[in-house]
Amino acid sequence: MFDYKRLEAVDIQGEPPRYEPERQYYYMKKCREWAEQEEERAGRPLTMSIQTLGCQMNAKDSEKMTAVLAYMGYQETVEPVADFVLYNTCTVRENANLKIYGRLGYLKNHKKKNPHMKIALCGCMMQEKDEVEKIKRSYPFVDLVFGTHNIYKLAEILYRQIQSGHRVVDVWDEPEEIVEDLPGKRKYPFRTGVNIMFGCNNFCSYCIVPYVRGRERSREPEDIIREISALVADGVVEVMLLGQNVNSYGKTLEQPISFAELLRQVEKVEGIRRIRFMTSHPKDLSDELIAVMRDSKKICPHLHLPLQSGRSSILAQMNRRYTKEQYLNLARKLKTEIPQISLTTDIIVGFPGETEEDFQETMDVVGLVGFDTAFTFIYSKRTGTPAAAMKDQVPEDVVKERFERLLKKVQETGAKVSGRQLHTVQEVLVEEVNDHDSRLMTGRLGNNTIVHFPGTEALIGKIVRVSLDEFKGFYYLGKIKNKQDKEAR
Ligand code: 5AD
Ligand code: SF4
Repeated sequence: MFDYKRLEAVDIQGEPPRYEPERQYYYMKKCREWAEQEEERAGRPLTMSIQTLGCQMNAKDSEKMTAVLAYMGYQETVEPVADFVLYNTCTVRENANLKIYGRLGYLKNHKKKNPHMKIALCGCMMQEKDEVEKIKRSYPFVDLVFGTHNIYKLAEILYRQIQSGHRVVDVWDEPEEIVEDLPGKRKYPFRTGVNIMFGCNNFCSYCIVPYVRGRERSREPEDIIREISALVADGVVEVMLLGQNVNSYGKTLEQPISFAELLRQVEKVEGIRRIRFMTSHPKDLSDELIAVMRDSKKICPHLHLPLQSGRSSILAQMNRRYTKEQYLNLARKLKTEIPQISLTTDIIVGFPGETEEDFQETMDVVGLVGFDTAFTFIYSKRTGTPAAAMKDQVPEDVVKERFERLLKKVQETGAKVSGRQLHTVQEVLVEEVNDHDSRLMTGRLGNNTIVHFPGTEALIGKIVRVSLDEFKGFYYLGKIKNKQDKEAR
C-alpha cells in the first residue's frame, strides 16, 4: 500500500533510484517541483482532465494516474480542456478509436491558445503500432504516448518530456514487473476496484485484448489482501476484484491458488462489506466458486458472465470453448444454488458467418437465462485478430437490424426479471445524490440494481435497509427502513 512517508524519504538531489516504487516517487517529486514553477508562471492552480474510455481496468488505471498528477499539484476538472489532458484509451471496438481522433481534433485549437498545455495518450489503443504511427504523423501536438504496461511510469515519462521539450513515445510490447505501493485516488471514497490480475490468455478470435494487455499475470494474494485491508482502514466498504478473466486467477503463481480461495481470504478481511468481481469466463467458472458465492455473506449475488453468442458453432469459431448447452447448464446451476443471483452478460451481434438461424439461438438464450442486463455490441473487425481474416463478414444493414431486435429482447427480459425483489426490504449501498432530484439518494443493491429513495448526503457510503416499493423497468423507488438511518434523513 502507498505510504506517504516512504515517498517523503526519497532524495531528489542525486540520481534516480533503480528500483520501484522509489524510482517513481523520485520522478513524482521532480515533476512536482516543475509544476510549482508552472503554477507561478500561470498565476493560478494547474488543472487536469482525465478522460477514460473502456472497462473497469482502465478506470482503475486512471485512478492511479490521477493520484500521481494530483501529487504534482494538478487539480481535477470535469472540463474537457485543462493544463494536462490525458486520454486513457480503449481499442476493443473501432468506434472507441474514432472517438479519440475526434477529441484530439477538438484539442488542437486549444493547444494553440495555451502552448503550455500537455496532451497525453495512454492505454490499450496505444499498444497498436498503426495507431501510434498515425499519431506521430498527424497529431504532432500530442506530448506523451505510452501503453498499458508502463502506466505506472507516468511521472518518469512526463519528466523526460519536460526535460527534453520533445514528444515522448514509450510503448512496451511486453509487460515487465507488477509494481506495488503506488498511490491511488478513488473516485468514490467508499468503493474501489482492486486489480488481482492483468492480461488475458484466452485469445477469443474477435478480441484484441490479449494483444494489447499481454499474457495473464496474477498478483500475489498477500499483496491483494494487504491492499484491501488498508483500503478498509481508509473507509472502503465495497471492492471490485478486477481481471480480464478472474476465474483463472492464481494459476501462474509460484504457489498456485484458485480464485475461489482468494475470495475466501478476502471475505475474512474485517470491515469489508461487499465483494464484487469482474469478468468471469464461463469455461473456467468452477463449482468451488459457486459454493463460495453461495455460502458468503459478503460476495454480492451478481455475476457478469459474457455469453457472446448463443450458437455453439459460432462459439467454436469465437474460440470460447463452451457450447450453448454448457452455458445454459451453468446458468441453471447458478440460479439453483444462489436463487437471488442476478446474471448479466455481453453479446456480440454480426460475428463473421452469423446467419439468421444462429442469431435466433442467441435470442433464445437471452429468453431462457433471463439476464438482468446485457451489454450488446456490434461486431467490430480488429486488425490482427483471427476473426478479421474470416470470410462472410455480415453486411452492416443486416447486423443493425439484428442488433435492434436483440436490444428490444434484452430490455423486455431485463424488465421482467430485475423487478423480482419488489416489496421486499434490502440492503443498499448509498452512492450519490440523485442526478435529477436532489431530495433523492441513489444506491445499489448487492445484485447491482439501482435504487432511488428520499435521504440526505450524510448517508453516502453507508449501507442502509430500504423497502423496494415501486419497480420502474430497471430501477426501484423505495424508502429507508431502519431507525437510525431514518434519523439521518
Ligand atoms: N467486436 C465487438 N465486441 C467486442 N468485444 C470484444 N471484442 C469485440 C469486437 N471485436 C466485446 C465482448 C467483450 C466486451 C468487453 O467487448 O462482448 O465481452
Ligand atoms: Fe477478450 Fe476473450 Fe480475453 Fe475477454 S476472455 S478479454 S473477450 S480474449
